[in-house]
Amino acid sequence: MERMLISGGNGFLGSHLVDKAISGGIDVTVVDDLSTSKKRQIPKEATFIKKSIEDFQTSEKFDYVVHLAARPSPEDYMQNPLSTIDSNDIGTRRMLEIARMGKSIFMYTSTSEVYGDPKVLPIPEDYFGYVNPNGVRSCYDESKRFSEALIKAYERQFDLDVRIQRPFNVYGPRIREDGFYGRVIPRFIDQALNGKPLTVHGDGKQTRSYLYYTDWIEATWKFLKVPDAKGEVLNIGAKDEITVLDLAKKIISITDSRSRIVHMEPRAEDPKRRSADSTKAKEVLGWTPRTGLESGLEMTVRWLKDR
Ligand SMILES: NC(=O)c1ccc[n+]([C@@H]2O[C@H](COP(=O)([O-])OP(=O)(O)OC[C@H]3O[C@@H](n4cnc5c(N)ncnc54)[C@H](O)[C@@H]3O)[C@@H](O)[C@H]2O)c1
Repeated sequence: MERMLISGGNGFLGSHLVDKAISGGIDVTVVDDLSTSKKRQIPKEATFIKKSIEDFQTSEKFDYVVHLAARPSPEDYMQNPLSTIDSNDIGTRRMLEIARMGKSIFMYTSTSEVYGDPKVLPIPEDYFGYVNPNGVRSCYDESKRFSEALIKAYERQFDLDVRIQRPFNVYGPRIREDGFYGRVIPRFIDQALNGKPLTVHGDGKQTRSYLYYTDWIEATWKFLKVPDAKGEVLNIGAKDEITVLDLAKKIISITDSRSRIVHMEPRAEDPKRRSADSTKAKEVLGWTPRTGLESGLEMTVRWLKDR
Protein backbone atom coordinates (compact mmCIF):
# COMPACT_ATOMS: atom_id res chain seq x y z
CA MET A 1 0.00 0.00 0.00
CA GLU A 2 1.36 3.44 -0.93
CA ARG A 3 1.83 5.99 1.85
CA MET A 4 1.34 9.77 1.79
CA LEU A 5 2.33 12.34 4.41
CA ILE A 6 0.38 15.62 4.19
CA SER A 7 1.24 18.64 6.31
CA GLY A 8 -1.68 21.03 6.76
CA GLY A 9 -3.92 18.15 5.66
CA ASN A 10 -6.81 19.26 7.85
CA GLY A 11 -7.23 22.56 5.98
CA PHE A 12 -9.42 23.47 3.03
CA LEU A 13 -7.26 22.03 0.24
CA GLY A 14 -5.55 19.42 2.40
CA SER A 15 -8.77 17.77 3.57
CA HIS A 16 -9.94 17.33 -0.03
CA LEU A 17 -6.57 15.82 -0.94
CA VAL A 18 -6.86 13.45 2.03
CA ASP A 19 -10.27 12.27 0.76
CA LYS A 20 -8.90 11.77 -2.75
CA ALA A 21 -5.87 9.81 -1.51
CA ILE A 22 -7.93 7.58 0.81
CA SER A 23 -10.43 6.85 -1.97
CA GLY A 24 -7.43 5.84 -4.11
CA GLY A 25 -6.35 3.27 -1.49
CA ILE A 26 -3.43 5.29 -0.12
CA ASP A 27 -2.46 5.19 3.56
CA VAL A 28 -2.53 8.83 4.71
CA THR A 29 -0.82 10.55 7.65
CA VAL A 30 -1.70 14.18 8.40
CA VAL A 31 0.36 16.57 10.51
CA ASP A 32 -1.57 19.72 11.35
CA ASP A 33 -1.51 22.09 14.33
CA LEU A 34 -5.09 23.29 13.68
CA SER A 35 -3.86 26.88 13.67
CA THR A 36 -6.00 27.98 10.73
CA SER A 37 -8.49 25.08 10.53
CA LYS A 38 -10.26 24.88 13.82
CA LYS A 39 -11.76 21.42 14.00
CA ARG A 40 -10.89 18.05 12.55
CA GLN A 41 -12.41 17.61 9.08
CA ILE A 42 -10.65 14.50 7.84
CA PRO A 43 -11.95 10.93 7.99
CA LYS A 44 -10.93 8.52 10.73
CA GLU A 45 -9.06 6.35 8.19
CA ALA A 46 -6.32 9.01 8.15
CA THR A 47 -3.70 9.01 10.90
CA PHE A 48 -3.84 12.45 12.50
CA ILE A 49 -0.90 14.01 14.36
CA LYS A 50 -1.69 17.35 15.98
CA LYS A 51 1.64 19.11 15.80
CA SER A 52 3.31 22.08 14.27
CA ILE A 53 5.27 20.98 11.22
CA GLU A 54 8.34 22.81 12.52
CA ASP A 55 8.39 20.36 15.47
CA PHE A 56 7.64 17.19 13.50
CA GLN A 57 10.23 14.51 12.87
CA THR A 58 9.84 10.88 11.87
CA SER A 59 11.93 7.99 10.60
CA GLU A 60 8.92 6.54 8.74
CA LYS A 61 9.07 6.37 4.97
CA PHE A 62 6.43 7.72 2.60
CA ASP A 63 5.94 7.45 -1.17
CA TYR A 64 4.63 11.02 -1.28
CA VAL A 65 5.39 13.96 1.00
CA VAL A 66 3.04 16.90 0.41
CA HIS A 67 3.74 20.17 2.21
CA LEU A 68 0.63 22.33 2.51
CA ALA A 69 0.95 23.68 6.07
CA ALA A 70 0.89 27.49 5.91
CA ARG A 71 -1.18 30.53 6.89
CA PRO A 72 -2.55 31.67 3.49
CA SER A 73 -5.11 34.30 4.54
CA PRO A 74 -3.64 37.86 4.32
CA GLU A 75 -5.34 39.21 7.47
CA ASP A 76 -4.15 36.15 9.38
CA TYR A 77 -0.57 36.04 8.11
CA MET A 78 -0.05 39.76 8.64
CA GLN A 79 -0.98 39.21 12.31
CA ASN A 80 1.25 36.13 12.60
CA PRO A 81 4.33 36.95 10.51
CA LEU A 82 6.85 34.76 12.34
CA SER A 83 4.85 31.54 12.40
CA THR A 84 3.96 32.24 8.76
CA ILE A 85 7.66 32.35 7.91
CA ASP A 86 8.48 29.31 10.05
CA SER A 87 6.10 26.98 8.22
CA ASN A 88 7.93 27.92 5.01
CA ASP A 89 11.52 27.78 6.20
CA ILE A 90 11.80 25.30 9.10
CA GLY A 91 8.61 23.49 8.04
CA THR A 92 9.69 23.06 4.43
CA ARG A 93 13.14 21.87 5.57
CA ARG A 94 11.58 19.24 7.88
CA MET A 95 9.35 17.93 5.10
CA LEU A 96 12.24 17.89 2.61
CA GLU A 97 14.36 15.84 5.03
CA ILE A 98 11.54 13.31 5.45
CA ALA A 99 11.25 13.08 1.65
CA ARG A 100 15.02 12.72 1.24
CA MET A 101 15.21 9.87 3.79
CA GLY A 102 12.27 8.07 2.19
CA LYS A 103 13.23 8.86 -1.44
CA SER A 104 9.68 10.20 -1.78
CA ILE A 105 8.00 12.38 -4.37
CA PHE A 106 7.90 15.83 -2.70
CA MET A 107 5.13 18.28 -3.56
CA TYR A 108 4.88 21.87 -2.38
CA THR A 109 1.99 24.29 -2.64
CA SER A 110 3.68 27.60 -3.29
CA THR A 111 1.36 30.45 -4.32
CA SER A 112 0.52 32.95 -7.04
CA GLU A 113 1.65 35.54 -4.47
CA VAL A 114 5.26 34.75 -5.43
CA TYR A 115 4.55 37.00 -8.43
CA GLY A 116 3.73 39.97 -6.16
CA ASP A 117 2.12 42.81 -8.13
CA PRO A 118 2.74 41.39 -11.61
CA LYS A 119 3.58 43.47 -14.66
CA VAL A 120 2.76 40.61 -17.05
CA LEU A 121 -0.72 39.08 -17.51
CA PRO A 122 -1.75 36.30 -17.64
CA ILE A 123 1.30 35.30 -15.57
CA PRO A 124 3.55 32.53 -16.92
CA GLU A 125 5.85 30.53 -14.61
CA ASP A 126 8.99 32.16 -16.04
CA TYR A 127 7.89 35.63 -14.87
CA PHE A 128 10.04 36.17 -11.77
CA GLY A 129 7.69 38.53 -9.96
CA TYR A 130 7.56 42.07 -8.65
CA VAL A 131 7.74 41.60 -4.90
CA ASN A 132 8.59 43.88 -1.98
CA PRO A 133 11.12 41.83 0.03
CA ASN A 134 10.33 43.58 3.33
CA GLY A 135 6.70 44.72 2.98
CA VAL A 136 3.76 43.53 5.12
CA ARG A 137 3.13 40.64 2.74
CA SER A 138 6.75 39.50 2.64
CA CYS A 139 6.29 37.07 5.57
CA TYR A 140 4.11 35.05 3.18
CA ASP A 141 5.26 35.75 -0.38
CA GLU A 142 8.99 35.95 0.31
CA SER A 143 8.95 32.88 2.56
CA LYS A 144 7.12 30.96 -0.17
CA ARG A 145 9.82 32.13 -2.60
CA PHE A 146 12.50 31.01 -0.14
CA SER A 147 10.79 27.58 0.11
CA GLU A 148 10.98 27.26 -3.66
CA ALA A 149 14.72 28.02 -3.52
CA LEU A 150 15.22 25.45 -0.74
CA ILE A 151 13.28 22.80 -2.65
CA LYS A 152 15.29 23.40 -5.81
CA ALA A 153 18.51 23.13 -3.73
CA TYR A 154 17.39 19.67 -2.55
CA GLU A 155 16.72 18.69 -6.13
CA ARG A 156 20.15 19.89 -7.29
CA GLN A 157 22.12 18.52 -4.35
CA PHE A 158 20.26 15.23 -3.65
CA ASP A 159 18.42 14.60 -6.93
CA LEU A 160 15.14 14.60 -4.96
CA ASP A 161 11.95 14.29 -7.04
CA VAL A 162 10.37 17.67 -6.31
CA ARG A 163 7.20 19.22 -7.78
CA ILE A 164 6.15 22.80 -7.07
CA GLN A 165 2.69 24.12 -7.77
CA ARG A 166 1.50 27.73 -7.55
CA PRO A 167 -2.27 27.78 -6.93
CA PHE A 168 -4.29 30.89 -7.84
CA ASN A 169 -7.24 31.65 -5.47
CA VAL A 170 -8.91 28.30 -5.01
CA TYR A 171 -12.38 28.24 -3.44
CA GLY A 172 -15.20 25.83 -2.64
CA PRO A 173 -16.69 23.79 0.20
CA ARG A 174 -14.66 23.65 3.46
CA ILE A 175 -12.94 27.00 2.89
CA ARG A 176 -13.22 29.03 6.09
CA GLU A 177 -15.64 31.93 5.85
CA ASP A 178 -15.66 33.22 9.40
CA GLY A 179 -14.30 36.40 10.92
CA PHE A 180 -11.14 38.02 9.69
CA TYR A 181 -9.77 34.70 8.42
CA GLY A 182 -12.33 34.46 5.64
CA ARG A 183 -11.02 34.80 2.12
CA VAL A 184 -12.92 36.90 -0.37
CA ILE A 185 -15.40 34.42 -1.89
CA PRO A 186 -16.59 32.73 1.33
CA ARG A 187 -16.58 36.10 3.12
CA PHE A 188 -18.80 37.71 0.47
CA ILE A 189 -21.15 34.70 0.43
CA ASP A 190 -21.38 34.68 4.21
CA GLN A 191 -22.11 38.41 4.26
CA ALA A 192 -24.67 38.15 1.44
CA LEU A 193 -26.51 35.21 3.05
CA ASN A 194 -26.68 37.05 6.38
CA GLY A 195 -27.85 40.37 4.92
CA LYS A 196 -24.63 42.12 5.96
CA PRO A 197 -22.77 44.61 3.74
CA LEU A 198 -20.16 43.05 1.45
CA THR A 199 -16.82 44.54 2.45
CA VAL A 200 -14.66 45.48 -0.53
CA HIS A 201 -11.12 46.70 0.11
CA GLY A 202 -10.30 49.87 -1.84
CA ASP A 203 -12.22 50.68 -5.04
CA GLY A 204 -12.70 47.00 -5.89
CA LYS A 205 -11.10 47.38 -9.33
CA GLN A 206 -8.35 44.89 -8.42
CA THR A 207 -8.79 41.63 -10.35
CA ARG A 208 -8.30 37.98 -9.47
CA SER A 209 -8.93 34.67 -11.21
CA TYR A 210 -10.63 31.91 -9.23
CA LEU A 211 -10.35 28.13 -9.39
CA TYR A 212 -12.93 25.67 -8.06
CA TYR A 213 -11.45 23.08 -5.70
CA THR A 214 -12.36 20.04 -7.86
CA ASP A 215 -10.16 21.46 -10.63
CA TRP A 216 -7.36 21.92 -8.09
CA ILE A 217 -7.70 18.30 -6.92
CA GLU A 218 -7.60 17.01 -10.49
CA ALA A 219 -4.46 19.04 -11.28
CA THR A 220 -2.75 18.09 -8.00
CA TRP A 221 -3.46 14.41 -8.43
CA LYS A 222 -2.11 14.40 -11.98
CA PHE A 223 0.92 16.38 -10.87
CA LEU A 224 1.69 13.80 -8.17
CA LYS A 225 1.24 10.87 -10.51
CA VAL A 226 2.67 11.94 -13.89
CA PRO A 227 6.08 10.22 -14.12
CA ASP A 228 7.93 12.93 -16.03
CA ALA A 229 6.84 15.92 -13.90
CA LYS A 230 9.96 15.76 -11.73
CA GLY A 231 11.34 19.24 -11.06
CA GLU A 232 8.42 21.04 -12.69
CA VAL A 233 6.99 24.35 -11.40
CA LEU A 234 3.37 24.80 -12.51
CA ASN A 235 0.70 27.45 -12.20
CA ILE A 236 -2.56 25.84 -11.11
CA GLY A 237 -5.15 28.46 -11.83
CA ALA A 238 -7.68 29.98 -14.20
CA LYS A 239 -7.12 32.69 -16.79
CA ASP A 240 -10.39 34.62 -16.58
CA GLU A 241 -10.07 37.75 -14.45
CA ILE A 242 -12.90 39.42 -12.59
CA THR A 243 -12.78 42.60 -10.50
CA VAL A 244 -13.52 42.21 -6.80
CA LEU A 245 -16.43 44.62 -7.25
CA ASP A 246 -17.97 42.51 -10.02
CA LEU A 247 -17.43 39.42 -7.89
CA ALA A 248 -19.37 41.06 -5.05
CA LYS A 249 -22.23 41.97 -7.44
CA LYS A 250 -22.29 38.42 -8.85
CA ILE A 251 -22.54 36.92 -5.37
CA ILE A 252 -25.34 39.32 -4.40
CA SER A 253 -27.22 38.23 -7.52
CA ILE A 254 -26.63 34.46 -7.02
CA THR A 255 -27.73 34.61 -3.37
CA ASP A 256 -30.66 36.91 -4.19
CA SER A 257 -29.45 39.09 -1.34
CA ARG A 258 -30.45 42.62 -0.39
CA SER A 259 -26.97 43.34 0.97
CA ARG A 260 -25.18 46.45 -0.23
CA ILE A 261 -21.50 46.89 -0.96
CA VAL A 262 -19.30 49.00 1.31
CA HIS A 263 -15.75 50.06 0.64
CA MET A 264 -13.02 49.72 3.27
CA GLU A 265 -9.42 50.90 3.42
CA PRO A 266 -7.37 49.34 0.60
CA ARG A 267 -5.23 46.43 1.76
CA ALA A 268 -1.54 47.23 2.00
CA GLU A 269 0.35 46.24 -1.15
CA ASP A 270 -2.67 44.47 -2.63
CA PRO A 271 -1.74 43.27 -6.14
CA LYS A 272 -3.76 45.16 -8.76
CA ARG A 273 -4.33 42.29 -11.16
CA ARG A 274 -3.79 38.57 -11.22
CA SER A 275 -4.60 35.82 -13.70
CA ALA A 276 -2.93 32.49 -14.44
CA ASP A 277 -1.26 31.37 -17.62
CA SER A 278 -1.75 27.62 -17.25
CA THR A 279 -0.37 26.63 -20.67
CA LYS A 280 2.44 24.69 -19.03
CA ALA A 281 0.05 22.72 -16.78
CA LYS A 282 -1.86 21.79 -19.94
CA GLU A 283 1.33 20.57 -21.62
CA VAL A 284 2.73 18.65 -18.63
CA LEU A 285 -0.49 17.32 -17.08
CA GLY A 286 -3.05 17.56 -19.88
CA TRP A 287 -5.07 19.70 -17.46
CA THR A 288 -7.24 22.77 -17.86
CA PRO A 289 -9.86 24.13 -15.44
CA ARG A 290 -13.36 22.82 -16.14
CA THR A 291 -15.70 24.55 -13.66
CA GLY A 292 -16.88 28.05 -14.57
CA LEU A 293 -17.07 30.75 -11.90
CA GLU A 294 -20.87 30.94 -11.96
CA SER A 295 -21.43 27.24 -11.27
CA GLY A 296 -18.55 27.05 -8.77
CA LEU A 297 -20.07 29.95 -6.85
CA GLU A 298 -23.52 28.35 -6.92
CA MET A 299 -22.13 25.10 -5.46
CA THR A 300 -20.22 27.02 -2.77
CA VAL A 301 -23.34 29.02 -1.88
CA ARG A 302 -25.33 25.77 -1.54
CA TRP A 303 -22.66 24.33 0.74
CA LEU A 304 -22.61 27.41 2.97
CA LYS A 305 -26.42 27.52 3.12
CA ASP A 306 -26.55 23.86 4.21
CA ARG A 307 -24.20 24.40 7.12
N1 LIG B 1 -6.57 28.15 -1.15
C1 LIG B 1 -5.90 28.91 -1.98
O1 LIG B 1 -6.48 29.67 -2.75
C2 LIG B 1 -4.40 28.87 -2.04
C3 LIG B 1 -3.75 29.67 -3.01
C4 LIG B 1 -2.37 29.64 -3.07
C5 LIG B 1 -1.65 28.81 -2.23
N2 LIG B 1 -2.29 28.04 -1.32
C6 LIG B 1 -1.48 27.20 -0.44
O2 LIG B 1 -2.10 25.93 -0.28
C7 LIG B 1 -1.88 25.44 1.05
C8 LIG B 1 -3.20 25.09 1.72
O3 LIG B 1 -4.01 26.25 1.78
P1 LIG B 1 -5.52 26.19 2.29
O4 LIG B 1 -6.29 27.14 1.45
O5 LIG B 1 -5.98 24.79 2.39
O6 LIG B 1 -5.36 26.85 3.75
P2 LIG B 1 -5.97 26.40 5.15
O7 LIG B 1 -5.68 27.50 6.09
O8 LIG B 1 -7.37 25.96 4.99
O9 LIG B 1 -5.10 25.12 5.51
C9 LIG B 1 -3.79 25.21 6.03
C10 LIG B 1 -3.65 24.10 7.07
O10 LIG B 1 -2.31 24.14 7.59
C11 LIG B 1 -2.35 24.07 9.00
N3 LIG B 1 -1.14 24.74 9.49
C12 LIG B 1 -0.82 26.05 9.36
N4 LIG B 1 0.41 26.28 9.86
C13 LIG B 1 0.85 25.07 10.31
C14 LIG B 1 2.06 24.64 10.92
N5 LIG B 1 3.06 25.48 11.16
N6 LIG B 1 2.18 23.32 11.24
C15 LIG B 1 1.18 22.45 11.01
N7 LIG B 1 0.02 22.80 10.42
C16 LIG B 1 -0.14 24.09 10.07
C17 LIG B 1 -3.65 24.75 9.39
O11 LIG B 1 -4.13 24.39 10.66
C18 LIG B 1 -4.58 24.31 8.26
O12 LIG B 1 -5.24 23.10 8.56
C19 LIG B 1 -1.07 26.53 1.75
O13 LIG B 1 0.30 26.20 1.67
C20 LIG B 1 -1.34 27.77 0.95
O14 LIG B 1 -0.29 28.70 1.06
C21 LIG B 1 -3.65 28.06 -1.19
